[in-house]
Order: sequence, then structure tokens, then C-alpha cells
Amino acid sequence: MKYLIGIDVGTSGTKTVLFDQYGAIIASALHGYDLIQPKNGWAEQDPQDWWRATVLGIREVLNKSRIDPKDIAGIGLSGQMHGLVMLDASKNLLRNSIIWCDGRSDGQAREIAQKCGNKIIEITANPAMPAFTAAKLLWVRENEPDVYRKCSHILLPKDYIRFKLTGVLATEVSDASGMQFLDVPKRTWSGELCEMLEIDAKILPEVFESSYISGVISYEAAQETGLAVGTPVAGGAGDQAASAIGNGIIDKGRISDTLGSSGVVFAHTEQPLIDILGRVHTFCHAVEGKWHVMGVTQGAGLSLKWLKDNFYQAEIREAKEKNIEIYDLIMEQAQDIKIGADNLIFLPYLMGERTPHLDTAARGVFFGISNIHTKAHFARAVIEGVTYSQRDCLNILIEMGIQPEYIVAGGGGAKSPYWRQMLADNFRYDVYTLQQDAGGCLGVAILAGVGAGLYKDVKSACDSIIKLEDKKTPNFEASEKYDKYYEIYKSLYGDLKNRFKALSEVD
Ligand code: XUL
Repeated sequence: MKYLIGIDVGTSGTKTVLFDQYGAIIASALHGYDLIQPKNGWAEQDPQDWWRATVLGIREVLNKSRIDPKDIAGIGLSGQMHGLVMLDASKNLLRNSIIWCDGRSDGQAREIAQKCGNKIIEITANPAMPAFTAAKLLWVRENEPDVYRKCSHILLPKDYIRFKLTGVLATEVSDASGMQFLDVPKRTWSGELCEMLEIDAKILPEVFESSYISGVISYEAAQETGLAVGTPVAGGAGDQAASAIGNGIIDKGRISDTLGSSGVVFAHTEQPLIDILGRVHTFCHAVEGKWHVMGVTQGAGLSLKWLKDNFYQAEIREAKEKNIEIYDLIMEQAQDIKIGADNLIFLPYLMGERTPHLDTAARGVFFGISNIHTKAHFARAVIEGVTYSQRDCLNILIEMGIQPEYIVAGGGGAKSPYWRQMLADNFRYDVYTLQQDAGGCLGVAILAGVGAGLYKDVKSACDSIIKLEDKKTPNFEASEKYDKYYEIYKSLYGDLKNRFKALSEVD
């Protein structure tokens, strides 16, 4: 029997999953770390925390499974996208990583738009985005010139882990698309763009297709992790493309909704399909020669985690004592509240927003708080607000001509049958989940299996491994009730837009 490992460097923790060659989970591990928020709207992480969590995860799955590490045919890497990791000439870290949900680089995104004009969409298939790596790098150039001067290499989060595992500085097309240095239609770095932005293209790592074997486990990494020297490490994918493969989104009409820290509605496309208003992202898919579009809610699971961390301390203790999942408890409470949370509406813009309102100044709102509202109402409002935001994302994809057949819900949020029903009622499409949801880890394990020659191609591997289950069909009576709240939800951003900006300018 051969095995594959998928590693997903997430925002709340790194997940490591060991699969057998048929895609069954043999062992898994999750190791968490902190988000560092030096200012309102800023978000950083220490890449060394990702590495520590990866080492612990690999050791744990090897210990639990007791397999011979030499039987591991390949390792795939997935991770949070857009984060900027900076290394000096000796490949040492220069600073914490400025991660995807950091909102400090608005000015730099404007600078990119100004310097590149129409070329930015022509080359990168997206308008200049503060969330993307290029704007973050320009922020460092402007605000931390000493750090910038020493920078010889930049990497994305999962690619830092690749470097630690193999010594190779490389990335792959799906994650590279979110850096805003890639020519997305051509799937190569754009020298022209680097010139326009006065960035030395030598700081970019090599870019491969996602199933390509980018390197092998080094002696040092083998010592630290227990893996065998020479084990192949595939390109992998950004977490969204990786989850999409794990959800079987490799053909027209298939849409996924991944509810992790962010919430992402994702569709496969045969060609780069661009929204000129820049409300959704157009990136290379991790399937060779294919692309995808996706709408991103910055604060999906992140909003629920915020609620839990700040208002559910007693329940966290209770859940620990009873050995139950705290999120199950929150869902249970929310389920007892009726649709619309007795007229309480939540806007999930805790870390600004990307789809449909590209606005780093936007912030979370509870609208309509009344004396009758309890903590359970707030929980229900958060879940509904995130769902409305995902509905916004899906509506844009449909406007762009995507015709969904059905939706596959994955990620932590989709574990709840109650939330999946809410999605079906709001989307008015059938919503499935996966028999075995290993999210991005399965996606990149499949890519590693293709790279290592275990599978013919991504499609045949997905067809044999991925099984959908538990179809939720829309309850149209509920849909009509949600519609009334959704209309008000949609109007609130427009009403508050200028106030968000004014608030962000108060010191
Ligand atoms: C996608 C995005 C997030 C992060 C974290 O564009 O920013 O999904 O990858 O999950």
C-alpha cells in the first residue's frame, strides 16, 4: 500500500492528513497558532509557528498510523493565500508574514492601479487588490525600507513550508495567481509587470504547475519530521483551489462553498473569465490548463470564531467538560431562533471585505439590536450574515454566466447540517457535502498522487475518491423569509459605506 500526505497551512492552524492510495483518511492532526493584530485591520503570523505546527502534525500522523515513511509516495502542500513571507540572502526570515486578511495596503493597491493602468487586468486577470501579495510588498518597501532592502526572496505561506521541507524556493500557478505578479492567462511570471512596479523579478520563486514535483524531503527535514529523505513534494495549491479539488470542482457547473476562516464560492472555468468590476477573483486552477473564479467573504468562520472567543467562555468550559464541540453547541443555540433572528442582521466585515464590496475600511455591524435579543440571536445573526455574504458571491458568479448544477459545501462551517440547509434555502440550489471532508489536504494529496505517478490525472483521481452525500434541497418557504432580510442586508453596506471610511480615518 502507498500513502500520501496533505498539509494545509491555515489561518487558525495547520492540518496534516495521511491518506492511503485510495483516498481514505488514515490519520490526521491539527496544530493551532495565533493571529497577531498589531493594529485594527492588520493581521500577521510568524512563519516559524507554521513550521512548528507542520513538524508536530507530520510526527503525529506518522506515530498514529505506524506506517513506514518510505511508503509515502508524495506530499502535497496547501495554504492560506496571498501572505507575504520575506527572506534575506541567507534565506532567513526578515519579519512576520503580512497575511491575506490584513487591510493595510489600500494605498499601495491604488499605486499599482495607477502605475499599471489597464495592463493589470490584462496580465493578472484581476484589478489591483490590497489583499494580494504585490500590494503588501509595496507597503513594506514604503514603510520598512530597511527590511525591503535586505529582501532577496519572497514566498507564500505554504511555499515557506516547501522551503523548510525541501530547501527549494518554488510556488505553483494557483497560489501564484493571488500574488499579482503572475500573467494568469499565460501561467508564468510577468516581467513586464515587475518592471512597471520596479520590483526585481529575481525575488520571485520558480513557478510550476500544481501537480509537478517541486522538490524532495531533505536530510534536515527528515531528521525533524520523521519523513524519509527523498520523498517527493508536489507543487500543491492555494487553499481554495486545493479545497476545490478535494470537493471535485474540476468541471463546468460544479460550484463549491468553503466555509473556513474565509468563505469562498468557487467555480471551475475553461478559460480565464474576468469580472471587470473586480468583485471576484480570476485565478489559474490547480488543474493544468484550467482556471477558476471565486468570490471571497473575508470573515466567515472568522466571524463565528470571534463570537466564540469573546462571548462564549462559559460554554467553552462546558463543552470541554462534556467533551463536545463548542461550535456544535453554538449551532444548537442558533437553531432554536427563528429565521431573521427576530430582526437582527449581521454584516460580517470584521476584517474589511472583498466580495461584493472591495473595501478594507468596512467593519462588522449588528443592525437592529433589541431588548429581546439573547446571545443565541447574535449567533444566529452571525451565521445568517455570513450566509448572505456567500449568497452575494454566488449571485455574481451567476451574473457572469456560470450555471450551477449544484453546490458542494466544505470546510469547518459545512460540518453543520443546519448551516448547509441555510445555504440551500438561500442559494435555491441543492447543497451536498462530502462523505469524507479533508478539505484542501485531500486536494493536494491528489495533486501529489498525480505528480508521483500514482494516479493518471486529477479527474480520474477525483472521480474514484470523492463521494458526495447528504443532499439538502431548498425549502422555498424558508427562502422567501430569508429574502426579506437579505434585501435589507444588501442595502446596509451602501448606507454605511461613507461612515466606515470616516471611522477608519479617526485616530
Ligand atoms: C482567498 C483568501 C482566503 C485565504 C485564507 O483569496 O484570501 O481564502 O486563502 O483561507
